[in-house]
Amino acid sequence: MTSINSTRLNSLSTRVSIIGAGKVGSTLAQRIAEKNLADVVLLDIVEGWPQGIALDLMQARGVERHNRQIVGTNDYTDTAGSNIVVIAAGIPRKPGISREDLLKINARIVTESAKQAIAHSPDAILIIITNPLDVMTYLAWEATDLPAHRVMGMAGVLDSARFQTFIAMELGVSIAEINATVIGSHGDLMVPLPRYTTVSGIPISQLMDARTIDRLVQRTRHGGAEVVTLMKTSSAYFAPASSACLMAESILLNQSRLLPCCVYLSGEYGVQDLFLGVPCRLGYRGVEQVLELELSNTEREAFMDSGKLVRQSIEEAKAILKTAE
Ligand code: LAC
Repeated sequence: MTSINSTRLNSLSTRVSIIGAGKVGSTLAQRIAEKNLADVVLLDIVEGWPQGIALDLMQARGVERHNRQIVGTNDYTDTAGSNIVVIAAGIPRKPGISREDLLKINARIVTESAKQAIAHSPDAILIIITNPLDVMTYLAWEATDLPAHRVMGMAGVLDSARFQTFIAMELGVSIAEINATVIGSHGDLMVPLPRYTTVSGIPISQLMDARTIDRLVQRTRHGGAEVVTLMKTSSAYFAPASSACLMAESILLNQSRLLPCCVYLSGEYGVQDLFLGVPCRLGYRGVEQVLELELSNTEREAFMDSGKLVRQSIEEAKAILKTAE
């Protein structure tokens, strides 16, 4: 079974292909279509599953009244000519799955699906969502041979959104006033930066004591795990999908928003040949600029520590992929 939608995509339309129709992939499909950003091709290996989700989202158009097409498919040919390819395929982080198993299974899924998708959309910008995020982004870049500015991972937007949320909850102020910055890897070693976090331009250090800030930083670091602990059989997907949608929007509408994303570093922050979360400018060409923040010694050390772990995991993943050849 391939595509069951009778609708064919207009070859001139803006198109985002999402590989992996799990909860993150399908929620992202909904956000992109209902925000009227692009037509969406949702691909999964399970026959019927992406077709069913696409049909459901098409039926919702009767209420939502947008004109975007959503196509579900098992065939990469249907993804051809995408402006953006999002990789959301793989198994999620959950209790009972070791870090090594996650690395092993997802490394294979991500490299294979990225290669296949980019073969059909050689001009696309590639956004990776699959965990461990920073490692998967590096592997996808290597596997596709795309210029580094067209490959990025989604995590900094999500981690900053969580930090912003916890600050808004603590202070009882509108989330709209808060700007938070989180850099480094997506995981326990991420580096929330209170010095670059403000409420209506006021540094949070003037609104909360150090202990409170530290508590919110810790909660941000474990924001994903807290959701898994509550849900037990699922990890977060609404906030991850919103975060990836924001990145896609900045690219598709050429907004040049400054967002923390997992991007290629070639000397910035003193880091060579690694994908890691830093603020960057996103536009229709992909990563337009990597912004180098001034970091204190403690912040820099924390950033370097997160990079060290990512580098180790990349080596591990490469060894795993090699033995599988
Ligand atoms: C999270 C996992 C899914 O942060 O990366 O929610």
